Amino acid sequence: MMKQYFVIGNPIDHSLSPKLHNYWFKTNNIKAVYDKKQTNEEDLKLILHEIKEKKINGINVTVPFKKAVIPFLDKLSNEAEQTQSVNTIILKNNNLEGHNTDISGFTKAIKNLNFNLESKKIFILGAGGVVPSIIFALNKMNVSQIIISNRTKKKAEDLKSQFHSLEILDWGDITDFDVIINATSLGLNKESINLDFSKFGNNKLFYDVIYNPIETNFLREGKKLGNKTENGKLMFIYQAFEAFKLWHGVEPPINSEVLELLKND
Ligand code: ATR
Repeated sequence: MMKQYFVIGNPIDHSLSPKLHNYWFKTNNIKAVYDKKQTNEEDLKLILHEIKEKKINGINVTVPFKKAVIPFLDKLSNEAEQTQSVNTIILKNNNLEGHNTDISGFTKAIKNLNFNLESKKIFILGAGGVVPSIIFALNKMNVSQIIISNRTKKKAEDLKSQFHSLEILDWGDITDFDVIINATSLGLNKESINLDFSKFGNNKLFYDVIYNPIETNFLREGKKLGNKTENGKLMFIYQAFEAFKLWHGVEPPINSEVLELLKND
């Protein structure tokens, strides 16, 4: 029987998850299909029930439902529990289990960079869906300090009630850093981030969660100032890799073909 997987979110049009998972089904000879489903909050319960009924075999969850799915699950992994963020759902022993593979995605992407984050000062821009996972991963890497700035300050404060050591900076203010992470959606549509990074010198890491476009203005600016830059493509691939492993018990290939597959959409 053909197995069925979905990524749910809203909006969902631009998700590249189907492309990646369907490619991996082919290379691993797995009889399954992966689609995207634009979802409203009131449909979550029904969709998750379909996993229990084995009509759906697994689901990836993206913005804005990573927290909203939690009440419908029977079990959470430790990482999902601690971040209150679920991006992968699987049925195990008839229990709906929520996992968080964004953490491993970010960790593996950073490892791949050969930029040691231990004892480093991190400045995060944004407080959206993926930020709890990034903070969790950074704490595991023993960074010395995490400073966060978000246009809507309340969201940064909510994160601080979850991760007590966070420091909050007003949106528009700037601080010295070793690593700066853009976790806002600014750059998806060619927007710039209106902050002056030039006074902090170079040899920092500029990391953008965005991978399409491959180089945001934020990264271009960072590079121009002589910093190392990286987009979110590997993080995206590695979170999918980890979800694939959970569902199918095998590690899918990450090769040039995979990188090519996600080039432009
Ligand atoms: P969500 O907020 O639903 O989780 P997201 O895409 O994960 O969605 O997050 C979008 C992030 O980009 C948020 O941090 C958002 O700031 P707000 O919390 O103030 O909305 C940020 N963002 C989006 N547009 C922005 C803008 N024009 N200026 C500054 N920050 C912006």
